[in-house]
Amino acid sequence: MLKVEGLNQSYGESHILRDVRLEARRGACACLMGRNGVGKTTLLQCIMGILPILSGRILLNGADISRLPPEKRAKAGLGYVPQGRQIFPLLTVEENMRLALLSSRSGNRKIPSCIYSFFPVLEEMLQRRGGDLSGGQQQQLAIARALVLEPDLLILDEPTEGIQPNIVQEIAAAIRRLMKEMSMTVLLVEQKVPFARSIADSYAIMERGHIAAAGPMTGLDAATVKALLSV
Ligand SMILES: Nc1ncnc2c1ncn2[C@@H]1O[C@H](COP(=O)(O)OP(=O)(O)OP(=O)(O)O)[C@@H](O)[C@H]1O
Ligand SMILES: [Mg+2]
Repeated sequence: MLKVEGLNQSYGESHILRDVRLEARRGACACLMGRNGVGKTTLLQCIMGILPILSGRILLNGADISRLPPEKRAKAGLGYVPQGRQIFPLLTVEENMRLALLSSRSGNRKIPSCIYSFFPVLEEMLQRRGGDLSGGQQQQLAIARALVLEPDLLILDEPTEGIQPNIVQEIAAAIRRLMKEMSMTVLLVEQKVPFARSIADSYAIMERGHIAAAGPMTGLDAATVKALLSV
């Protein structure tokens, strides 16, 4: 469904992403892993069109989207949950979701009720300000905000960062249900190996802006984890 080929990117003089290739297969969860600062978020921002690329291609269902502006990529079916959640703290839960709906590709202006089946706590807290929610609830809101646009591919950047363990389990369960019940394809950036193993079908590990190892998740062995992920 999503394919990245030979992608290069730089921030001014500093060349960060080098010949990156990555694939997310339809209906599966692909996990991009790697230590802090290797370029994971930079790659997601290139995929979303937030950052320009130097060379390479980003293909969505075979079509090259690498020159499209971010809003066209969202309309093409990419949903993005940024690192650090980035919800609007002064707006209510409902307002956060309604704001996202303004760019709905189907013209739908109603919050789909299935959102509350995935994240019941959001329905209870509709009138609460985003900034008053716990970290885990804010993450659920950030995912819900991407989901109201009914994406085909959900891209999540470290959704479990700084979140308490029981909520991490809830988020894992919600992602699994999204894949099963909504046929969602997922591209996940994650550093926690057990969490990644519990939901992903394949992995790619980045080191200094390059994919150093990749394959089916079942083939991710302890030696690779130690060499490329342990801190
Ligand atoms: N706006 C920027 N300008 C210049 N350099 C940047 C910018 N944003 C990130 N970088 C650099 O690019 C590299 C990759 O950063 P990036 O945020 O993509 O890493 P990451 O793998 O997502 O890290 P983390 O796991 O900490 O989120 C880092 O060396 C970082 O310092
Ligand atoms: Mg990052």
